[in-house]
Amino acid sequence: MSFPISIHPIEKSRLSGVDLKHLTFGKEFTDHMLVADFYDGKWQKCEIVPYGLVPTSPSIYALHYGQSIFEGMKAVLDKAGNPMLFRPMDNFHRLNYSGKRMAMPQLPEDIFMNGLMELLKLDKNWIPKEEGSALYIRPFMYCADELIGIKPTEVFQFKIIMSPVSKYYNDPVKILVADKYVRASHGGTGDIKAAGNYGGTMLPMIEAKQKGFDQVLWMDAVEYKYLNEIGSMNVFVQIGDTFLTPDLDGNILDGVTRRSVIALLKDEGYKVEERKISIDEIVAAADKGILNDAFGTGTAASIAPIDLFGYNDKTLKVKPVAERKISNHILHRLDAIKCGNEADKFGWVMEVK
Ligand code: COI
Repeated sequence: MSFPISIHPIEKSRLSGVDLKHLTFGKEFTDHMLVADFYDGKWQKCEIVPYGLVPTSPSIYALHYGQSIFEGMKAVLDKAGNPMLFRPMDNFHRLNYSGKRMAMPQLPEDIFMNGLMELLKLDKNWIPKEEGSALYIRPFMYCADELIGIKPTEVFQFKIIMSPVSKYYNDPVKILVADKYVRASHGGTGDIKAAGNYGGTMLPMIEAKQKGFDQVLWMDAVEYKYLNEIGSMNVFVQIGDTFLTPDLDGNILDGVTRRSVIALLKDEGYKVEERKISIDEIVAAADKGILNDAFGTGTAASIAPIDLFGYNDKTLKVKPVAERKISNHILHRLDAIKCGNEADKFGWVMEVK
């Protein structure tokens, strides 16, 4: 028997007050959210309730010590108007992978998947139809122990909220190569979606913006030499005819879009290498005029073209976006698979019935 989910629908939808054609990423939230509680060693209750404020004690552990993880997924509509999810089980498994590292309970599959399906059925009308738009889904779990002593914790909450969004980046992004801060180091939490991984990147991002960049490209924590990932996404470059992306060395998020782009590039017969990439290789490729492409991948960002990299006092220019036929095509294919316009030969999409 699957975990019972009690549903308390909203009396009046807020949707009529939202312009789904003009959205800012992550500012609007749908009518409902899922809430599940863990205490006394087990998941106790799971409900869908109207989206709203959550009563929170000021002493909860997540607020003080950041025991908090999250996921990011998207739903779009197919031609017939059915919501479609992209690789949701990958997100489910990664949530539990993150949870294990952060000493949090494993979430049962039925709470995640059935909860998601019920939520989408209720809030399906919030899925925007504009090109590049989607319903962004944010599952997250945090520790709700009321405790400011450091010790293993026992009370957790899992929630799913959903936000209609437009494109994350409207223009090709300018990336500053980090030279003073780090995002992840060996044995740390760089390969999971821990909330604190992002909190620590705010100051570097603000400093990068002051210099005219959109995001930071992190380097390894030992030599500042090898590419890690970009603030909100994994990174790919094309040098000559080979696509390169950093290998999953324990410091990098195993991105669902990253995986899908590798699969699509290989499917088309392109050479893809997952390996250590030194910044010197990128500099040399830019100098020789063979830095043919560079882009970030992520659920929020999809495939986001990189305009240039700033490294020390150098600007490393990438070939103009209009000439990047391969990544443009891969983005097109990915979008077509997600909404059912291309046959799903990889078994990636799940229709919400
Ligand atoms: C995602 O792409 O889903 C993420 O979680 C990145 C976040 C910074 C928006």
